Amino acid sequence: MKTADRSSSVLMFVSLAAAIHVIFAVNYVPSEQFHLNCGESSILNDTDTCSWTPDVGSKFLLSTKSSTSKAATQDPLVPEVPYMTARISQSEFSYSFPIVPGRKFVRLHFYSNSYNGHNPTNAIFSVSSGSYTLLRNFSTAQTTEALNYAYIVKEYLIPVDGETLTIKFTPSMKKNAYAFVNGIEVISMPNDIYKNANGSVILVGQDYSISVDYNTALETAYRINVGGNDISPSGDTGMFRSWYNDQPYLYGATFGVPVTTDPSKTIITYPKDMPTYVAPENVYSTARSMGPNPQINQNYNLTWIFSVDVGFFYLVRLHFCEVQAYINAINQKTFNIFLSNQTAESGADVIRWVKHNGVPVYKDYAVIVTGEGPRQDLWLALHPNLSTHPQYYDAILNGVEIFKLSDTDYNLAGPNPIPGPKQDVVDQSMALPSTRAVNSNKLKSIIGGGAGGVLVLALAIAIGFCVFAASRHGKDHSSSDGPSGQLPKTNTTKSNASSLPSNICCHFSFAEIEAATKNFDEALLLGVGGFGKVYSGEIEDGNKVAIKRGNTLSRQGVHEFQTEIEMLSKLRHHHLVSLIGYCEENCEMILVYDYMAHGTLRGHLYKAQKPPLPWKQRLQICIGAAQGIHYLHTGSKHSIIHRDVKTTNILLDEKWVAKVSDFGLSKTGPKLDDTEHITTAVKGTFGYLDPEYFKSRQLTKKSDVYSFGVVLFEILCARPALDTTLKDKQINLAEWANHCHQKGTLDQIIDPYLEGKIAPECFKKFTETALKCVSDQCIERPSMGDVLCNLEFALQLQESAEESGKGIDGKMDKEERSFDDGLAPSAVFSQIMETDDGSTPSALFSQIMNPEGR
Ligand SMILES: *[C@@H]1O[C@H](CO)[C@@H](O)[C@H](O)[C@H]1NC(C)=O
Ligand SMILES: *[C@@H]1O[C@H](CO)[C@@H](O)[C@H](O)[C@H]1NC(C)=O
Ligand SMILES: *[C@@H]1O[C@H](CO)[C@@H](O)[C@H](O)[C@H]1NC(C)=O
Ligand SMILES: *[C@@H]1O[C@H](CO)[C@@H](O)[C@H](O)[C@H]1NC(C)=O
Ligand SMILES: *[C@@H]1O[C@H](CO)[C@@H](O)[C@H](O)[C@H]1NC(C)=O
Ligand SMILES: *[C@@H]1O[C@H](CO)[C@@H](O)[C@H](O)[C@H]1NC(C)=O
Ligand SMILES: *[C@@H]1O[C@H](CO)[C@@H](O)[C@H](O)[C@H]1NC(C)=O
Ligand SMILES: *[C@@H]1O[C@H](CO)[C@@H](O)[C@H](O)[C@H]1NC(C)=O
Repeated sequence: MKTADRSSSVLMFVSLAAAIHVIFAVNYVPSEQFHLNCGESSILNDTDTCSWTPDVGSKFLLSTKSSTSKAATQDPLVPEVPYMTARISQSEFSYSFPIVPGRKFVRLHFYSNSYNGHNPTNAIFSVSSGSYTLLRNFSTAQTTEALNYAYIVKEYLIPVDGETLTIKFTPSMKKNAYAFVNGIEVISMPNDIYKNANGSVILVGQDYSISVDYNTALETAYRINVGGNDISPSGDTGMFRSWYNDQPYLYGATFGVPVTTDPSKTIITYPKDMPTYVAPENVYSTARSMGPNPQINQNYNLTWIFSVDVGFFYLVRLHFCEVQAYINAINQKTFNIFLSNQTAESGADVIRWVKHNGVPVYKDYAVIVTGEGPRQDLWLALHPNLSTHPQYYDAILNGVEIFKLSDTDYNLAGPNPIPGPKQDVVDQSMALPSTRAVNSNKLKSIIGGGAGGVLVLALAIAIGFCVFAASRHGKDHSSSDGPSGQLPKTNTTKSNASSLPSNICCHFSFAEIEAATKNFDEALLLGVGGFGKVYSGEIEDGNKVAIKRGNTLSRQGVHEFQTEIEMLSKLRHHHLVSLIGYCEENCEMILVYDYMAHGTLRGHLYKAQKPPLPWKQRLQICIGAAQGIHYLHTGSKHSIIHRDVKTTNILLDEKWVAKVSDFGLSKTGPKLDDTEHITTAVKGTFGYLDPEYFKSRQLTKKSDVYSFGVVLFEILCARPALDTTLKDKQINLAEWANHCHQKGTLDQIIDPYLEGKIAPECFKKFTETALKCVSDQCIERPSMGDVLCNLEFALQLQESAEESGKGIDGKMDKEERSFDDGLAPSAVFSQIMETDDGSTPSALFSQIMNPEGR
């Protein structure tokens, strides 16, 4: 299947069309589409408008020796359809779909769980289709654990010669092994989409090509909308493909800025010879560029890292479209593309390829991934090509698709990934990225890694504790019928630690917790909340952690505690505080968190008498926090609304990296859309609360955007969101900032320390963004992704201005500051005690009574 020829022609589907015709994007209409919900007996719709056919009684199912089952538990991140039912069998079973010959998309959906009482770890099986092996000795439990998946979607592109496509499931020979599947999709595809005229693709770093001919089956490893949002199957061009945001795969401290088309200047225009269904407009209208600063860009590579199976060839398709309106001539932006550290393309120039701004183009490359272990990282990097002296030192990328190619044995199956702390998540569709998945055996390497040993307490965890308690309290009233309003159903009587994800989050024994806190030594007490106490602690290997000890709770509490752990343990992101573990013995409910050396953001803004943070650092903190929240909103199939974004819930680690904490109030779950309108007590913190949410009681992501806008002003003005010692309009910061903006005096209310240190362009961008966030109407507020993009841009503006030295009086960031706050427990404690905004009832009242009062 792999034929090496000496042709060095680079494969490309580049439009060289001289005339660009305006072609409106036309979606592909699949002639065949099957969405089979295995183990189900009635037609059900998923949350993304797709209707699933039951396999019970369907003509597609060939074997009768299989049975149906419901998953024993439901993870809040796992949608009901098609994952809550499965077809399972200890002997072989198959499905057969009538089709016309051609390559088809085949998607297999798996949710590792207990079915009919079978142990999930016994689900070990192979899957084949015709002569192709798709999975071999595949362990859903091990894959789920190793990659921190919530559920698994495997997508294949399988050529079929005959009139039927069969999919065969074969349990392994191991004792008690069984096979199962939750959902199967078969979708036809246009013949020309992943195939090229020559059938050969140049192998990067080699002077020969490999063939990707008709007989090659492909497995999708990644499909990324670079610089853009997730695109669900219904947003694709008719093939039900999912596209994911590139954030989790970015590497390094500098990772460019997302850029989007300005619709008034650029319309995405597919070239005449490129089918419009290749990728959605959304993929081409958003991109990531290196940023406006040529000095910075010269010195770094814009890099993404993708973990892939070793021993296969991969087809890497890169999608490009120039979206920045000022780029419209050749050699304005020329860059090199590296794959696996080898030059894949030198002198890439999108305008040279397609002649016009807004015209998409894609290019295919092949790489072979070798090395030790079952998986390796595939590096994709862009760097400006300086030798051509382009006008801008920049690069751009709009989308990435990576496919594994079947080998000479028609095989696509790799070994099961090995659970461990270093495993990166492969596909966000299936999971939330876990760059630091915690394995109980390897706890040391995780917690110790990168932290340099000195970890101090995350204050806001303690603070969050109170909020946590409050929310529990609130729910006890409103949900006598169970937590269905907020969380998917699970069997609440099954309060057994083994149901919790031991893989990603450690299970501590009570003895270990006692040892860590010196038997709950009051000297280690960091805070007290309605929920219980918070201690600093030291675990086995001497690493410091924050330990929350809950009061003995009701049965309901037990359930929520578990669900919270399950949710939190799946939420892993560089800008979210991580849950390290929990302890659930002796009716104790204890949570163990990562420690944050520098405490809360608020502690560094006002009141605490700490040295003020430089403006650039504040911007970086804003960007980090925005990334964390953006991830909550878009990082998984189901958006999570934080509901309590504020400066005390943004923590700073020893490297001043911002981490969002406290998900006690967060709302999530596949049924979020349906339950949003349930009237629940309005929760959150006064001063940060979205006025529209107050009024409608309908929670949206834009409520978090509002709160984040308040945070931005707090950072700029170094004052609390609500300050009842001030007068009238000044009490509420958002209101006051709006007022000052209208009067043109916004620059007069900023933190005096920042005076003369913010570049005017940066100030404008920052305040514009913050003001938009606190718009009264949520539709006027930007998405968190837009906020992030604007803040990144603001930072670049600041950096450029500092570089050129114009517009800023002071020398920012040059002064050496001692960050050695040496937070003594007592200091921490006092900080916790003063966290509530001290708002008097009347101030709160005025906000409640006058929700649109700005
Ligand atoms: C296809 O192959 C021919 C020669 O084998 C070559 O001249 C041509 O450029 C190739 N086309 C593409 C798109 O690679
Ligand atoms: C599923 O969606 C279709 C429209 O796509 C609708 O007609 C049908 O009533 C829905 N079925 C259920 C069970 O919600
Ligand atoms: C099958 O997978 C299991 C679990 O990963 C592993 O222990 C076993 O060695 C594998 N067997 C074969 C034949 O690959
Ligand atoms: C690529 O280079 C990076 C460092 O720049 C290195 O860490 C990585 O291992 C290299 N990857 C390969 C496949 O050689
Ligand atoms: C960019 O990546 C290439 C290929 O891995 C490497 O040779 C080069 O040194 C990198 N440049 C920078 C600035 O990291
Ligand atoms: C820049 O691109 C040209 C091709 O356009 C290539 O010959 C040259 O080697 C590249 N320069 C660098 C530094 O990679
Ligand atoms: C919950 O689990 C227990 C035992 O694990 C079982 O007896 C009970 O029927 C289950 N309840 C529900 C509603 O599934
Ligand atoms: C959980 O239940 C299993 C049996 O279902 C039992 O063996 C185990 O000890 C229980 N674990 C705890 C912590 O109670």
